[in-house]
Amino acid sequence: MLKIAPSLLAADYLKLGEEIRRMAEAGVDVLHYDVMDGSFVPNISFGQGVAERAATCGLPVDAHLMIVNPEKYIEAFAKAGCEYITVHAEATNHLHRALQQIRAAGCKAGVALNPATSPECLRYVLGDFDLALVMTVNPGFGGQKLIPACVEKIAAIRRMLDEAGKDAIIEVDGGVNTQTAPMLMKAGATMLVAGSALYGAPDAKAFIDTIRAEYAEIGK
Ligand code: DX5
Ligand code: ZN
Repeated sequence: MLKIAPSLLAADYLKLGEEIRRMAEAGVDVLHYDVMDGSFVPNISFGQGVAERAATCGLPVDAHLMIVNPEKYIEAFAKAGCEYITVHAEATNHLHRALQQIRAAGCKAGVALNPATSPECLRYVLGDFDLALVMTVNPGFGGQKLIPACVEKIAAIRRMLDEAGKDAIIEVDGGVNTQTAPMLMKAGATMLVAGSALYGAPDAKAFIDTIRAEYAEIGK
């Protein structure tokens, strides 16, 4: 089943609760929550306090930690009620340990890869993560254009998982819209993050329905 995840980064911050409910009513599955520290990425966003409030809105929260030393904050985001916690492979020297820490905290463990990072870094942790997040833009900002060279990474990860007899969600983040979604789903993506395109859509439900219909068509 395809999961669609709006990125709260693109919401109106003065009315976050309303912005989350608007997406829940439109039919999304998960709330994507971008955490930026001004160090791993140039931008700063929101922390565990806002995540805790967001988690009360009823959607599972998918915390995408774009921060250095992510291990330091795993416990805090787990306590905030996040269901998925994703760390960047580039942000930790001990990816295997960080993934174990996430699962020990009771959450689903994710690994994110920057556009220039090889999917090979997942080979020795297959089975230790529940989700691989393929960044299709350089992390730090919403509203960027998808980098086409990243798309083949989705299929490479799906192949690697299949060959090892493992399964995981493949999430794609960056420049997702109704035009780019079909190729991402064809390549094997099972969770799509959409920020500016979804929050900016005149009809969020129509946006979601279009992508789901396309996914059903691909599965035929
Ligand atoms: C980028 C974030 C994304 C971002 C996506 O660093 O990880 O989740 O919000 O925004 P769009 O969909 O506008 O590219
Ligand atoms: Zn993100």
